[in-house]
Amino acid sequence: MAKIPVQFTLNGAEKAEFFDSGTTLLNALRDKIGDTSPKGGCHQGTCGACSVIIDGELRLSCLTLAETCNGAAITTTSGLSQGGVLHPLQRAFLDAFATQCGFCTPGMIMAAKVLLDHTPDPSRDDVVEALSGNICRCTGYEPIIQAVLTAARSNSQNAA
Ligand code: FES
Ligand code: FES
Repeated sequence: MAKIPVQFTLNGAEKAEFFDSGTTLLNALRDKIGDTSPKGGCHQGTCGACSVIIDGELRLSCLTLAETCNGAAITTTSGLSQGGVLHPLQRAFLDAFATQCGFCTPGMIMAAKVLLDHTPDPSRDDVVEALSGNICRCTGYEPIIQAVLTAARSNSQNAA
């Protein structure tokens, strides 16, 4: 199988890797690079557990070929905390009990981060829409929605 050279940044760190042609970004991140924060749920684009941010946009890593990521800036949930301090979204998820088994949580947080990056003061409907591609089998969604709204408020207070 052909090996494809790919250079990219992952959570700000430069990477240069060879990936087998056809390798999904999800498998590349988890199996080759060792970042297991994106989760493999459905592997067919329906659960959102594998969500990452590529060049500022929410993407499903199970449907993204690693070889298409040359030059990309990739962010995963692993890259959100800084110096051991949780990102406001991570803190809000913990405080709101918005994570139970935790399988959906990294994807939810990626989707929420893209929302807040583009819409710092979202409505509840904005949050519901932004998370509509992410499935959670545990929480009933309400704690997750509240966590995202809390993180947005926390961000705006910090910016004030
Ligand atoms: S694993 Fe990618 S959408 Fe479910
Ligand atoms: S916390 Fe278990 S799937 Fe969401």
